[in-house]
Amino acid sequence: MTILTHPTTPYLDQKPGTSGLRKKVRHFQQPNYAENFIQAVFDVVAAPAGSTLVVGGDGRFHNRTVIQQAIRMAAANGYGRVLVGQGGILSTPAASAVIRKYGANGGLILSASHNPGGPDEDFGIKYNGANGGPAPENVTEAVFARTKAIDRWLAVDAADLDLDAPGDSVVGAMTVSVIDPVADWADLMESLFDFALIRRAVADGLTMAFDAMHAVTGPYAHEVLERRLGFAAGTVRNGVPLEDFGGHHPDPNLVHARVLHDLMMDPEMAPAFGAASDGDGDRNLIIGKGIFVTPSDSLAMLAANAHLAPGYANGLAGVARSMPTSAAVDRVAQGLGIACFETPTGWKFFGNLLDAGKATLCGEESAGTGSDHVREKDGLWAVLLWLNVIAARGASVAEIARGHWARYGRNYYARHDYEAIESARADALMAELAAALPALPGRAFGPLSVAAADSFSYDDPVDGSTSTNQGLRVQFEGGSRVVFRLSGTGTEGATLRVYLERYEPPSGNLAAETPDMLADLVAAAEAIAGIARHTGRTAPDVIT
Ligand code: G6P
Ligand code: ZN
Repeated sequence: MTILTHPTTPYLDQKPGTSGLRKKVRHFQQPNYAENFIQAVFDVVAAPAGSTLVVGGDGRFHNRTVIQQAIRMAAANGYGRVLVGQGGILSTPAASAVIRKYGANGGLILSASHNPGGPDEDFGIKYNGANGGPAPENVTEAVFARTKAIDRWLAVDAADLDLDAPGDSVVGAMTVSVIDPVADWADLMESLFDFALIRRAVADGLTMAFDAMHAVTGPYAHEVLERRLGFAAGTVRNGVPLEDFGGHHPDPNLVHARVLHDLMMDPEMAPAFGAASDGDGDRNLIIGKGIFVTPSDSLAMLAANAHLAPGYANGLAGVARSMPTSAAVDRVAQGLGIACFETPTGWKFFGNLLDAGKATLCGEESAGTGSDHVREKDGLWAVLLWLNVIAARGASVAEIARGHWARYGRNYYARHDYEAIESARADALMAELAAALPALPGRAFGPLSVAAADSFSYDDPVDGSTSTNQGLRVQFEGGSRVVFRLSGTGTEGATLRVYLERYEPPSGNLAAETPDMLADLVAAAEAIAGIARHTGRTAPDVIT
C-alpha cells in the first residue's frame, strides 16, 4: 500500500456553520478544498487505528467525487473499515442509525440539506461522531482551527471503487463495504412503530401522499410506505433521487412543496395525510386534509401522543426544542410532568440531552423532529409516528390538531425570512438591536408591551458548556414574542430570520388565520428592529 502525502495550503473560509461546511459546488471543486477539510477532520478526531467510518450523502451533484476521495483518505489515515451506502446514498438519519448500529467511530455526511443541488448550486460536508450525532462545537471549532494550519493531506494510491456494487472490497489495507442504505434504518422503524396497526388502517382505506422531492428519501419511502406498510404504488411522488433534485429546492415548506400543499387543500382530491422531506431526509412537512401543521405544533402533538407507538409506550423522559421553536411543546411537557429543554438552533445541541437520557423527543421550527432512536432529526420517522397516532386514534389530522388546541391552547406561529441580505447590513441590524434590548422592557408597540428582551445564551446541563449570542428575543406580556436570528446555513450573504409567536389559551380564538393573529407582532418587529431601514426590504422572501 502506498500512502501519498499531498502538500497543500490552507483555505481560510472552512468554518463549519449550523450544520457542517456548506459552500457552492464550484467552491468545493477548487484544488484540495474538500481534501483539506476532510483531512482536518481526521487530524482532529484522531480515530484509533482500525476504526470504522461511515460515508454517504444525499446523492446531490459532486457526492460521488468526494466519496471516492474520502475513501482513499480514510485508508491512508488508519481507518480499518468504511461503510458506504450503495450509490453513495445515505440519508442523514440513516447515516446516524448506521454509525450507531455498527459501532463506527464516526461518519462523513455529504449534503447541503434542503439547499438546491447541481454544478452551480450547493454542497456540504458534515462530520458526525460515534453517538451518530453532529460533532459538537468544540470539535467543529478544532476542525476550523486545523483547516487554517493544514499543510498536507494523505490518501492511498487507489482507483475509484464501484459504489453501485454491494459487497466488500479492499482499498489500501482497509475494507470498504458497500451496504444497503435503507435496510438498517427501515428495520429500526419497524422496531419503534406498530406497522401491523398502520397496515390494517391502510387496508381499511387510509391514504397518503409523500413528496420525496427527487431527493434522498425516495428509496426509503418506497420501502417503508409502499412495500412494508402497503400504501398504493404512487403514494411516493418524485421518488427517484436526482443530482440536481429536478432543478427544485428540496425544502419541504409551503413554498417549495406547493404541489403537495395544493393537493392537500383540494377537498375532492386530497388523501387523508400528506408529507414531504428534504434533500438529505432529516426534515419533514406534515399536512392533513385541509390543514397544515406547523413544525412547532407537530412536535407538541407528537409529544402528547407518542405513547401510542410501541417505541415510546413507556412515556417520554423529557422533551427539547430549539429556542425559536414555539412553546407549544412546553405546555405538553407541563401536562405530562416531564422536563422541557430550550436549546440554541442546531440539532447538535440535542445530542448531550439525548445521550444523557434527559430528552426522548426533540424538535425545531425548521421542520426537524426526532427522538433518541438516532442523533439526527428524521423526516420519515416523524411521518411514521404521525401515521401510528392516526391509526391508533382513528382520527384525522384536523381532529387531532383541534383536540390538542382545545386542551393546551394554540401557539400561532410563523417565520419570516429575508434572504441574501448584504452581510454588513444584517450585522448592523443585529448589533443595533442587541444594543437596544436593555431599554425595551416596559415599552409598548401597538397593543403589545415588552415584558423582557435578551440575547439567548445556553448553558448545557450535561457538559456545562456555554453558547452565547444564539438569537435576540423580545417577549411581550401575555406570552407573545418575536425572535431575531441570522441563519447559520446560508451560502450567499446573510439571511435574517424573524420568528413570530402568539399564544391563545383554550378559551381564546383557536380557529383564526395565522397572518391575522400575527399582524400586530409583524408591525412590532419592524418598529423594534428597523428591518426595512437596514435592509431595504419591505417584505420577507419566504414565510414558513
Ligand atoms: C439545519 C440544522 C438545524 C437547524 C436548521 C436551520 O437544518 O440541522 O438544526 O435548525 O439548519 O438553521 P439556520 O441557522 O439556517 O436557521
Ligand atoms: Zn436536511
